[in-house]
Amino acid sequence: MADDSMTKVPQTPDFDFYPVTETIRSAKTDGHVLTLQWSDGLTSRYHAIWLRMNACDPETFNPDTREITRSPLDLPAQVSITQVSVRSDGAIGLRFLPEDHDARFDPGWLRLHDYSNGGRRDDAAVEKVLWTTTECAEPPTFDGADIMKDDAMFTAFLTAVASHGLARLRGAPADPDFAERFASRIGVIRDSNFGRIWNVRVEPGAGSNAYTALELAPHVDLATREYQPGLQILHCVENTTQGGRAMMIDGFRVAEDLRLEAPEAFRLLTTVPWHMSNRAADSDYRWNSPAIVLDQAGQIAEIRSIYFLRGPLNVPFDLVEDLYAADRLLHAKLLDPRYRMLFGYLPGDLMLFDNRRILHGREAFDAAEGRRWLRGCYLEREELESALRMAARRARARAAAGT
Ligand SMILES: [Fe+2]
Repeated sequence: MADDSMTKVPQTPDFDFYPVTETIRSAKTDGHVLTLQWSDGLTSRYHAIWLRMNACDPETFNPDTREITRSPLDLPAQVSITQVSVRSDGAIGLRFLPEDHDARFDPGWLRLHDYSNGGRRDDAAVEKVLWTTTECAEPPTFDGADIMKDDAMFTAFLTAVASHGLARLRGAPADPDFAERFASRIGVIRDSNFGRIWNVRVEPGAGSNAYTALELAPHVDLATREYQPGLQILHCVENTTQGGRAMMIDGFRVAEDLRLEAPEAFRLLTTVPWHMSNRAADSDYRWNSPAIVLDQAGQIAEIRSIYFLRGPLNVPFDLVEDLYAADRLLHAKLLDPRYRMLFGYLPGDLMLFDNRRILHGREAFDAAEGRRWLRGCYLEREELESALRMAARRARARAAAGT
C-alpha cells in the first residue's frame, strides 16, 4: 500500500517530490526565454517551447495519470511567453501566446530540471568503481538477517551493485524460497527457458556443465539472447563441499585495461560480432554481438563473453585470424589472478551481480564429499535502477514534508 505522504504531490508532470531548497529572487522573459534568478545566485534559463511542452495544466496533461494528452502538432510551432508572475506559494505563473494559455510551474521541479546548467542527474546514476582483487578482495558484504525490513541497508546494497557490479548478503535465511523473495523485493523476475527460479546443483543427465561438479570458466549468462539479463542472483541453500569456490571478475576493469594495453585487439573485440548459439535439444536461441559492447559515448556497456556457447565464427574472411588472436588476449586476462575474486559460499549467502559486467564461474568440487546447492534467478538492470530512484524519491518526499 502506498505511503500516504507519497500521494500528496504538488502539480508536476510526474509522481515525484520537489522540496523547495531555493526561492526565486526574480523572474523575467524576453518572450523567447524565461530567466530565473535563485536565492543562491544561480541563474536558470528555459525556452518558451520547452515550458509549453512541459506544462501540466489539465488541458495539456491528464492530472490522474500524469501523461501528456497533446501531441507536438496540437501545440503551436512558435510559442512565446507574454506574462510572468511569482505566486505567493512560490510557483511561477506563465501565459503563453498565441494560445493565451496559462500554466503554473512548481519551483522545485524547475530547479531540478534546469537544463541550462548541466541538466538533471539521474538518481540511479551511481558512479562505477572498477576493481581488481587488489582493491576488492571480497564482495561488498551486507547483513542478510535484516535486509528485508531495513530500507537504508537495502538501498546501500543496491548502490554497491551499481558501483562495484556485485554485492553479497551474508547470514540471510538459507531456505529455498529466499532468492525469489529477495528478487521480488527488487523488482520483476525475468523468466527464461531455464525456469523462473533455477537450481545450480549436481543433477543426473545435466543439460549444462553448470549442473555438474566440473569447473566453470568465467562467463556471462544468456549471451545467446538479444537482451542479455542485466542482473543475476545466486543464493546458497546448502554447501558441505570444500571446493567449488565462486569466481567473479570485473569485466569492465578487464576491458578498460585491454583498451590501454592492446588498442587494436580492443577495437576488434568491440566491433566484430561473434555468433553465439545455445546447445539445447528443444530450443534454438542465437545472437550476434561483439564480446565487448560499447555505448554511443564509447563507454563499455556490456560484456558478452562465453566461449562455450559460441557458434561458428561468421565474419569477413580477412578478420578471422586477427579476431581469434584478440580473443586470446582477452581470455589470458581472464586467467590473471589479479582479476579473479575467489570466495566460498556459506548457507544463507546471496550474491547479486550485474550479469552484463561481472563474469562468474567456479572451481571444480568433489560431489562425493558433500552437497552444493544454489538457487538463482535473473532480473533486469532497470529493476535495480527503478528501486534506486524510488529510494531517492522517498528521501525527497520526506524532505518535502519537512521530516
Ligand atoms: Fe552461469
